[in-house]
Amino acid sequence: MDHGLDLRHHEDASPGTGSLPPRAWYAASDAPALSLNGTWRFRLSPTADAEDDAFAADGHDRTAWDDITVPGHWVLQGHGAPHYTNQLYPFPVDPPRVPTDNPTGDHLRTFDLPADWPGPGTAVLRFDGVESCARVWLNGTELGDFKGSRLPHEFDVGALLRPAGNVLAVRVHQWSSGSYLEDQDQWWLPGIFRDVTLLHRPEGCAGDHFVHASYDHRAGTGTLRVDADVEGRVVVGELGIDVATGETVTVDVEPWTAETPRLYDGVYATAGERIPLRIGFRTVAVEDGLIKVNGRPVLFRGVNRHEFHPETGRALDLDTMRADVLLMKRHNINAVRTSHYPPHPAFLDLCDELGLWVVDECDLETHGFQAVGWRGNPVDDDRWTPALLDRAARMVERDKNHPSVVVWSLGNECGTGRGLTAMAQWIRARDDSRLLHYEGDSSCADTDMYSRMYADHDEVERIGRGADEGPEERRQLPFLLCEYGHAMGNGPGGLSEYQKLFETYERLQGGFIWEWIDHGLAHPSYAYAYGGDFGEEPHDGNFVCDGLVFPDRTPSPGLVEYKKVIEPVRIEPVRVEPARTDGDGDSDSDERGRALRITNLYDFTDLSLLALTWSYEVDGVSVADGSLPMPAVRPGECAEVKLPPAPKRGRGAESRWTVRAVLAEDAAWAERGHVVAWAQLDDEARPVRSTPGGTAPVRDGRRILLGDAAFDAHGTLLSLGGLEIKELRLDVWRAPTDNDNGMPWRPEPSLSTRWRRLGLDRMQHRVDAVELRDDALTVRTRVAPAASDLGLRVEYRWQSDGPRLLLSLEVEPEGEWTVPLPRVGIRFGLPGASGPVRWFGGGPGEAYPDTCAASMTGLWESDVDAMQTPYVRPQENGARPGLRWAEVGGLRVDTNDGPWFTARRWTTEQLDAARHRTDLVPGDTVWVNLDIGQQGIGSQSCGPGALPQYQLHARPERLDVTFSTAVTRGNGAARH
Ligand code: GAL
Repeated sequence: MDHGLDLRHHEDASPGTGSLPPRAWYAASDAPALSLNGTWRFRLSPTADAEDDAFAADGHDRTAWDDITVPGHWVLQGHGAPHYTNQLYPFPVDPPRVPTDNPTGDHLRTFDLPADWPGPGTAVLRFDGVESCARVWLNGTELGDFKGSRLPHEFDVGALLRPAGNVLAVRVHQWSSGSYLEDQDQWWLPGIFRDVTLLHRPEGCAGDHFVHASYDHRAGTGTLRVDADVEGRVVVGELGIDVATGETVTVDVEPWTAETPRLYDGVYATAGERIPLRIGFRTVAVEDGLIKVNGRPVLFRGVNRHEFHPETGRALDLDTMRADVLLMKRHNINAVRTSHYPPHPAFLDLCDELGLWVVDECDLETHGFQAVGWRGNPVDDDRWTPALLDRAARMVERDKNHPSVVVWSLGNECGTGRGLTAMAQWIRARDDSRLLHYEGDSSCADTDMYSRMYADHDEVERIGRGADEGPEERRQLPFLLCEYGHAMGNGPGGLSEYQKLFETYERLQGGFIWEWIDHGLAHPSYAYAYGGDFGEEPHDGNFVCDGLVFPDRTPSPGLVEYKKVIEPVRIEPVRVEPARTDGDGDSDSDERGRALRITNLYDFTDLSLLALTWSYEVDGVSVADGSLPMPAVRPGECAEVKLPPAPKRGRGAESRWTVRAVLAEDAAWAERGHVVAWAQLDDEARPVRSTPGGTAPVRDGRRILLGDAAFDAHGTLLSLGGLEIKELRLDVWRAPTDNDNGMPWRPEPSLSTRWRRLGLDRMQHRVDAVELRDDALTVRTRVAPAASDLGLRVEYRWQSDGPRLLLSLEVEPEGEWTVPLPRVGIRFGLPGASGPVRWFGGGPGEAYPDTCAASMTGLWESDVDAMQTPYVRPQENGARPGLRWAEVGGLRVDTNDGPWFTARRWTTEQLDAARHRTDLVPGDTVWVNLDIGQQGIGSQSCGPGALPQYQLHARPERLDVTFSTAVTRGNGAARH
């Protein structure tokens, strides 16, 4: 690092100068505080030294400056542009130096003290987050400088404050030595993006304080001790506690868990100040090789959460934070990893209050050094250790009083090095009540758990069995998938199989989906922008959109699937016998005494917070409903509940029970009746419906007529009952999903590359025969890609009884197919189609072979536009599985084969070509796909592909579909 230059503050490896030692964060004490959020004056310069320091002085002319909102990022307020990279540094790797072109934002705010601002005492100026390096002046006096973007920094300013006309000046550099430590996979977004607050510090004010609140599950007692820099009293009224700081007291308490977030309000009071405490008693430990809280192993059903808002970037308001926690709780999520930096501190208050386990991760990632063979990695260079320790301390000191925080994480993807060990040692010495996590060091030398990202199912199973390779000491550790299920675009697939492993092997303590939210930035032309949309280089495209919720926080199908997969109550049939139907269509299921097994998968609570409801559906319509007693089941145990006698139903109907576990009372995070878990139990199987026939095809000029259907001379269907039908034929192409596109950095070609190379996106259809027989019109074709001898023999056999038209499709592969097909089925267009779509089958949302846990069989109604899943980068979406029948644009299809059903107002080719939502312009034709098969989704955008059982290998296939013109029936369809 000897560059022969006197490195300026933003380019030296130090954490900064002048700020106060870090301390515990609290929302508010009884000492006055003045928020300095709001409109500031702003000037952007192209380099760090373009302007001198005079701007910070009183009386400087700032009339030409702009306004800017603080908290905020200047690149999202019309100054410069955001830049997205995943692993790569967007500047040369030459630590600690950064480019001369270094956008620098001078921020300025003048303020008066409120009239009642107390005289005696001092004051502290707090910055909760500034990216990436700030230098601060108050009334012309420099206070210091700091790095550590998502960490708090405070300055003592008492002596400098004036009653009126204070001038606070902050110079922020986009790039600094700190940027080398902040290479997280996200937008680079400079600015003062968290709160700025002036805090009065009265005489005799409280000091830093550390709430130690443990729980002894054997005795049912909590032990409290509050260590404090300034002596005072600790009062917890509800528990009758009134002790001195530093004094230990043990009382009977209810413990805190993520399921039962019991907090006790208390206060830490000194001569001059009262700081509210929210105390949760809990004990975290690794015992018997397992992560236990309050003596019980926990299963993390987690997500990785970056802070993100499509308009304001990482400047989040309280409502948005609360919305995140509520959405998580409502989707059965019980844990959050604050990837990859400490969140806004108020988020942790919400986790305490509403109940989430938190892995609090330090603001540290040096991933970009991988590209240079990890040479110069700051975590293995003692000159950077002060900066690393500063970051560790700022996280731990700020967040140490949150019961929700059960694990400290050193950072993400930093390789290995002495600096990490130093951080771990410091953290352990300061706080031995929590566990340590870091994924990047496979030796686990510094951590309490073995953690991995994106390991495939087989490997996770081996780890579960303790049959993993690697050091013996590591095999003794509990296991976490700190990242899995890469939620980029359509997917992730294979979650059910992971969950099964987690629930089978106790060493596997769950995981955290990557990630919570798509970081698509609101954009006037693109709807949501991703990497490259601002002309930036290098960039990583839409890899920044890989969340379970869309940028506007609408749940994507991935979140709905995850909710189902991780539901904390399992509802299963105790025994399923084939239904017997007697002469009048009634079955004797009541005598069969159908029963449910209810398994409690919570770690701590019984099921008394839930109620059980049932509905009985005949052909998708609920004909009866009611409730069942919820059995008292302890965590990990199960009980049986008998279903009532099955209601009567009509002849030849399909029927099933839908049973739901719902909140019995309002909870803090959802209302009474909110569905936590559900299951469907088939009662009467789907009867095989009669198939039409009996009419002979006849030639009519260049057309062929068969009942009410007309075909062209090549046997292509043109119309049925006067309803135009376009281009009905075999279809094997889908607009590749992000998972089909795989990982760009992998040398082997992705699935979609192999598909395109083979030409599956431009198959040629050759008609070999059009045969008119007494009972059918048969069209024989060969469908094949150019330049290949692989092909699919396809036979369309058409029969009709007049109004109804039956297609029997047979597909026979030819040649050695070594690549799975994207899909196999038929596609056709319905010109001018409009109106609602109704279907009986899986819904209400989309599902694919390995993402269909949350698909519920029922009668659904929607419209074509609402059936599209608006992935930020358009791709295959919207399939509904297990179709029995559908009505769309005046056409009805009936089938016994349960195909996948898709309808959209653009073609697959248009979907494939689109880069943003706004590229998709609806045409007047509704394109319908009925797929015998779809390739599984997997998680290959960053992780394993679809499991073998979900691969769509070319093999003989068949599909029978009956077409008729739709007779819309009034029905009890649920609207999507
Ligand atoms: C991981 C990384 C995350 C994110 C993810 C892929 O390697 O920790 O930050 O980049 O991959 O989206």
